[in-house]
Amino acid sequence: VLVARAAAAGAADRDGLRAALAAYEHCELKKGAKSLVFSDGNPAARVMVIGEAPGRDEDIQGKPFVGRAGQLLDRMFASIGLDRAAPDPARALYITNVLPWRPPQNRDPEPQEVAMMLPFLERHVALIDPQVLVLMGNHSCGALLGRKGITRLRGHWAQALGRPVLPMFHPAFLLRNPIAKREAWHDLLMLQARLRETA
Ligand code: URA
Repeated sequence: VLVARAAAAGAADRDGLRAALAAYEHCELKKGAKSLVFSDGNPAARVMVIGEAPGRDEDIQGKPFVGRAGQLLDRMFASIGLDRAAPDPARALYITNVLPWRPPQNRDPEPQEVAMMLPFLERHVALIDPQVLVLMGNHSCGALLGRKGITRLRGHWAQALGRPVLPMFHPAFLLRNPIAKREAWHDLLMLQARLRETA
C-alpha cells in the first residue's frame, strides 16, 4: 500500500496516473488480466461513476462498463440526460472502477486488493475533481465509504473524499433483480435533482 500511495501521489495528471498503474507490479490481478481498464468518458464531467472491477468484455476492450451491465448503465444515465460521450461537462459522465484489472473468473475483489489499489482511485478522483461521485454497488461503497450494505446505503447522499457521493445498485445486480430498477430510478432522479440545484 505504501508503494501504491507513493506511485499514485507522484502522478501529476491522468496520463501520469495511467502510466503509474501500468508500471505497478504489486497487484496479483494484473498478471491474470489482458488489459488495464483505466476509464472512459469525459474527464471534465460533473459526475464520476465508480464501479467494481472489469469483467470479461471490459478486459477485452480495455474500457469500463462495455458489457451487458455497461449497456444498462448507459441506459440508466441516459434516462436523466447523461452520456459518457457528451462533450458538454453538464451532460457527461466519467467512469472508472475500484480495480483496474479483471479478477479471475470475475470473483469478488479481496479486501487487500481493494486496500492496495485505493490510493490510485483516490488520486484519480482528485485529478478529475468531479462535483459528485456515484458509487455502483457494494465494493465501491466499501472502498470509499468504508461500509457495505448497498440496500441501506442507496438512496442517501453520503460524503467521501470531500464531496457528495450517491450509492446506487450496481447494474449487474439490476440485471439479476429487475424489480430493484424501481429504486435505481428513484436514485437517478435524486442525482438529477442535485445536479439541477447546483447547475
Ligand atoms: N462491472 C463493473 O463494476 N465494472 C465494469 O467495468 C464492468 C462491470
